[in-house]
Amino acid sequence: MVQVRVPATSANVGCGFDTLGLALSLYTTFTFEEIDHGLIWEGCEPQFQNEDNLIYKSFQETLHYLNKKVTGVKITIDCNVPVSRGLGSSSTCVIGGIVGAYALSETPIDRNEILKLATAIEGHPDNVAPAIFGGLCVSCIVDEEPITVRYELNERFIFQALIPNFETLTSEARKALPVALPFQDVIYSLSHLPLVIHAFANYDLVMLKKVMGDKIHEPYRKKLIHEYEDVKKICENIDSQAFFISGSGSTLLNVLKDKEDAFIIESELKNLKYHWESVILSADRSGFKIL
Ligand code: HSE
Repeated sequence: MVQVRVPATSANVGCGFDTLGLALSLYTTFTFEEIDHGLIWEGCEPQFQNEDNLIYKSFQETLHYLNKKVTGVKITIDCNVPVSRGLGSSSTCVIGGIVGAYALSETPIDRNEILKLATAIEGHPDNVAPAIFGGLCVSCIVDEEPITVRYELNERFIFQALIPNFETLTSEARKALPVALPFQDVIYSLSHLPLVIHAFANYDLVMLKKVMGDKIHEPYRKKLIHEYEDVKKICENIDSQAFFISGSGSTLLNVLKDKEDAFIIESELKNLKYHWESVILSADRSGFKIL
């Protein structure tokens, strides 16, 4: 029996569309147990208890890649990463399945190999990279191979995940994007990106506050997130060193200087129409763990 704990992630981080992602201290744990035959699920809603489940598909694809076999498997999920909220829940399933296959077949863990497998399944590396390596990951794909550079995130970072009681589907959020961007908007995002990375890597909140901003996806997606402007205003009036859509939404991520301010923001959010859950998180610095 093996247990794999995988962190939630927040992709894009403003202007790093499909490129930048960071790992958060919120986790889903997957348990894999070899059984005589078949597939048994626990902790998973009945409609997802099948062979098309992303966890099982990633598990089987990895066994096939490793040329290993198991007779059957029981998969138990202890899920704390909310689904379809922009916190990398599908990446947790992919990494859980891949690492479960490595661990159950007693194959030595190779994080770079896992990045390749996970990117091939997910389609882009921005969420899977931090779920594997922790910290802040900058990734690109060259000749179909992902390349990732990892930056340590200071333990003083306070992330306030504002999770609404409505979902956004990544497929819909991608459809909201334009087919072409104005040249000036590309320059804006391109020039901000290295400074955003620098500010995160050096815990430079003064710079972070100045350079956060995006003209690639947020202007087009914010209309899909009810009360985006209201939530942003509340955060900016109280404490916001950086504010951005987590992944493709619907969660909004606020970076704070002072943890106490999170409680003030939380109480102000109660005046809004939708329910916004506030979860205070730090950076995950290690990526997935075999427990
Ligand atoms: N980079 C992706 C997007 C993350 O924003 O569409 C969600 O999978």
